[in-house]
Amino acid sequence: MTVSNFEAPAILIPGLMHPHVTERLKSAFPLIHLASGDPALLTEEMKAEVRGIASMGRVDAAFIDALPNLEIIANFGVGYDAVDARHAGLRGIMVTNTPDVLTEEVADTAVGLLINAVRELPRAEAWLRDGRWVGEGGYRLTPGTLRGRRVGILGMGRIGLAIARRLEAFGLPVAYHNRRRVEGLAYDYYPTLKELAVAVDTLVSVAPATPQTEKIVNAGIFAALGANGVFVNVGRGATVDEAALVDALSNGTILAAGLDVFADEPNVPQALINLPNASLLPHVASATVHTRQAMADLAADNIFAWFSDQRRALTPVPETAEVTAKI
Ligand code: 8YV
Repeated sequence: MTVSNFEAPAILIPGLMHPHVTERLKSAFPLIHLASGDPALLTEEMKAEVRGIASMGRVDAAFIDALPNLEIIANFGVGYDAVDARHAGLRGIMVTNTPDVLTEEVADTAVGLLINAVRELPRAEAWLRDGRWVGEGGYRLTPGTLRGRRVGILGMGRIGLAIARRLEAFGLPVAYHNRRRVEGLAYDYYPTLKELAVAVDTLVSVAPATPQTEKIVNAGIFAALGANGVFVNVGRGATVDEAALVDALSNGTILAAGLDVFADEPNVPQALINLPNASLLPHVASATVHTRQAMADLAADNIFAWFSDQRRALTPVPETAEVTAKI
């Protein structure tokens, strides 16, 4: 894809970025690297020159406002809660994310995490590695099983659907809660999360972090899942009341949890780490070489497409779907 401008627009990369994004972009654009999206780090020259951002960290309203010629923010990741997309939309700035290319990978991880939590596979492996199989005999029969479970999915988007399809193949009934019922989907829909939690014993969350979803998975939801309850989260940690989750896991309100995301990453509450019935991963759901490469390509392709003759983004987020490029 060619870049039509005589002088290629400068692209700013605040904080860490996948190296493939940097490689691709630097073949066509001058790149500016900053430690973070902090307006205080911007020089007057940067403010004048920057027309695009490629980011996987925070891009807030103050940073957006500090860049008068900014046209596009390409977020590396399908979840874009770190970017103030609403504000960008109001300012006529495009925001893109990386949907589809990570769907199957994240769904695979969600199912793995569910099985780990229910069948205690990481603990069983530790038993072997610690020499306890030889010393003490076989690992215990797990109180948890997938058999007979009813699964509720919170967030029936692309990833939620991919998880549902997998669990259907496992022979488990699936229901869901979403802001809206998904037309043409045969799974039972519950208009509230509470009603879903009452109807199932296994809740898998793929919900994004928004003001509306903050701590929606709380003590009432755990109580509704019940003593055989399992909670799996591959969405965002901000959607969970982590203190309530620690209580629910400690006092037997639910059986187990499998978590890939946390409210304050990479800081995981010690109380969660201490719990044997919490299976914990360091936000790795999409973290394979294959899938991160595809995400990197899509993030870079959005910037290439925007600054090409087409002047359009490939995967705009809904908040900026109406934003068009000034020719
Ligand atoms: C991130 C994710 O992309 O896509 C998402 O929303 O949570 C991950 O795949 C990853 O954390 C990037 O740093």
